[in-house]
Amino acid sequence: MKVIKVKNYEEASQKAFEIFRDQVKEKPDSILGLATGSTPIRMYELLAEDHKVNGTSYKNVHTFNLDEYYGLAPTHPQSYYYFMTEHLFKFLDIDLNNVNVPKGNQDIQAECDRYNTMLAENQIDLQLLGIGSNGHIGFNEPGTPFDSVTHYIELDESTRKDNARLFFDGVLEDVPTHAVTMGIKNIMEAKRVVLIACGDNKATAIKGLVEDEPTTSLPASILSTHPDFTLIIDEGAASKLDK
Ligand code: PGA
Repeated sequence: MKVIKVKNYEEASQKAFEIFRDQVKEKPDSILGLATGSTPIRMYELLAEDHKVNGTSYKNVHTFNLDEYYGLAPTHPQSYYYFMTEHLFKFLDIDLNNVNVPKGNQDIQAECDRYNTMLAENQIDLQLLGIGSNGHIGFNEPGTPFDSVTHYIELDESTRKDNARLFFDGVLEDVPTHAVTMGIKNIMEAKRVVLIACGDNKATAIKGLVEDEPTTSLPASILSTHPDFTLIIDEGAASKLDK
């Protein structure tokens, strides 16, 4: 595991942006694994700016998003498909046919199977992750087996509260109770993984990831065994580390 410690969210976003931009420049037909949530927003702005100013092209890039809320159509303003369009895709020259986000409003098992088949045929070159305050990656909540593939999952109360604070205008009842998420095995199959964690509320999860043995009670902890894992943390997220 490579740890990049930076001062704040802006610096963390810069570092992650550079890794993703370089990936696309070096391999224009890269397969990127993408994430939603508040963390990647600034990094996506930087990618959009770089595309506009320097012309980095996404014409041949394919993307796979980690997860989607169950029950929300892609056109729903709180869906993750909509999030990706608004924060990134509409600013790039990416072909929307090359963009993959699990569909939360379809026959759920058929959709999980479809996503798993696509992932099996398309190894992700570079996977972006955030981390939940409870240590989840994607929507793999504590207790999810490390060998899980794309599946339907009930969201933890803490996750729904975290997401209500940032999205859904603060209304907990509006946050879906279930989601579809890539499994931990799918995430671990990416060639390279980059996780960004910022803020004090991530410090306990980051301490567990960096200092403890992998345990399913902290899903992100398995990443310490990934052969090419980069952790980008700001001072808040690093504040509970012993070393
Ligand atoms: P956040 O969510 O970026 O909004 O903190 C991260 C996550 O839940 O994975």
